Amino acid sequence: MRKTQLTNLDSVLSPIENATGLPNNHYIDDETFEEEKQSILFNNWSAIGTAKDIPDVGDAKPVIFVGMPLLMVRDELGDVNVFQNTCRHRGMILVEKQTKVTGIIACPYHSWCYKLSGELCATPMVGGINSNTHEAINNSELGLFAIRSYVWQDIIFVNVSNSAPEFTDYAAKVMQRWKEFDKPIYHGGKGSSFSLTVNTNWKLAVENYAESYHLPIVHPNLNKKSKIEDHYHIEEKNHFSGQGSVVYSQMKDESGNTFPDFESLGPKWDTGSEYICFYPNVLLGVHRDHIYNIILEPVNTSKTVEHVSIYYAKDSNEMQHLNKLKDANSAFWKSVFLEDVGVVEGMQRGRYGIHFDGGKFSPIMDSPTHTFHHWVASQITNNRDR
Ligand code: FES
Ligand SMILES: [Fe+2]
Repeated sequence: MRKTQLTNLDSVLSPIENATGLPNNHYIDDETFEEEKQSILFNNWSAIGTAKDIPDVGDAKPVIFVGMPLLMVRDELGDVNVFQNTCRHRGMILVEKQTKVTGIIACPYHSWCYKLSGELCATPMVGGINSNTHEAINNSELGLFAIRSYVWQDIIFVNVSNSAPEFTDYAAKVMQRWKEFDKPIYHGGKGSSFSLTVNTNWKLAVENYAESYHLPIVHPNLNKKSKIEDHYHIEEKNHFSGQGSVVYSQMKDESGNTFPDFESLGPKWDTGSEYICFYPNVLLGVHRDHIYNIILEPVNTSKTVEHVSIYYAKDSNEMQHLNKLKDANSAFWKSVFLEDVGVVEGMQRGRYGIHFDGGKFSPIMDSPTHTFHHWVASQITNNRDR
């Protein structure tokens, strides 16, 4: 049966010349946020964190992903597992804050214990004071709920609904486009990660990142180095959109040192850089000497946390002499991303104007944003039709 339509998305799905953007309720309405949670964030491969945050066996980090308690764990084989962070007994949150688990994850309520693989391995007194077993309790059926996950470019992706294609199919086009960057990457260490809390809907962060139209106005300094006319659109319908620049120049320290390049890159990357919104909630940037990801944590309709992590071609130990340059690079990107805060928050406030109809796109300059809207609207309508 066709579900109730919270919003009409016909005009969003129109060709860009006639299209509007998403209706206001997609930014300000709780019920629409819930609908998007399922149809966009849970039904697809969304990012929840980075593997560098759980580097060693036993490292466990809880995250709340649009209300859902999840636990990222590094298991004995060195793999990343993601579980629902909920005990199978009475539903207690298992791990409250980042920790190093020694051997087993013990529930803080009645001490049911789970292996790093999620398997239930101990149930103290479940059969009475002197018995740790009971015939009604079958450990093999009571492991932690595993959430389908995949790590790419250090980003931990999850498909909560378990209904998306394999990640390597889902991401095939972006993996193919950037296959030259499919090599070891090294997080720059403390100082190469930071988070920004922004009073906006998560989609506005995507929409803004996708386009270079705002460059001269919002980023006047960046526009001196890499002008709007040096940019091109990137659009892969139903997968990703963004922009690239043909005039990337490496940062240098006072001695003229630069960061080491990733190996075996083609000539495109000598002066090229690309910035892609990988749907739904990851913003990526690649350059010859560093890459970064921004994981958008959607908190509610009008609050998003942007988690930024910057990576290099060499391990920090081999780049000790470049520590100051790494700090300068982090400061540079932070300043750029902070410049965007005013507009993504302003667009959010603008969406309380009841006569705003989703807006009018420039068929030329706004096409990466329209490509994102089209994908969002398709996901929602497909889900409504199920
Ligand atoms: S709720 Fe976890 S052991 Fe009881
Ligand atoms: Fe920007």
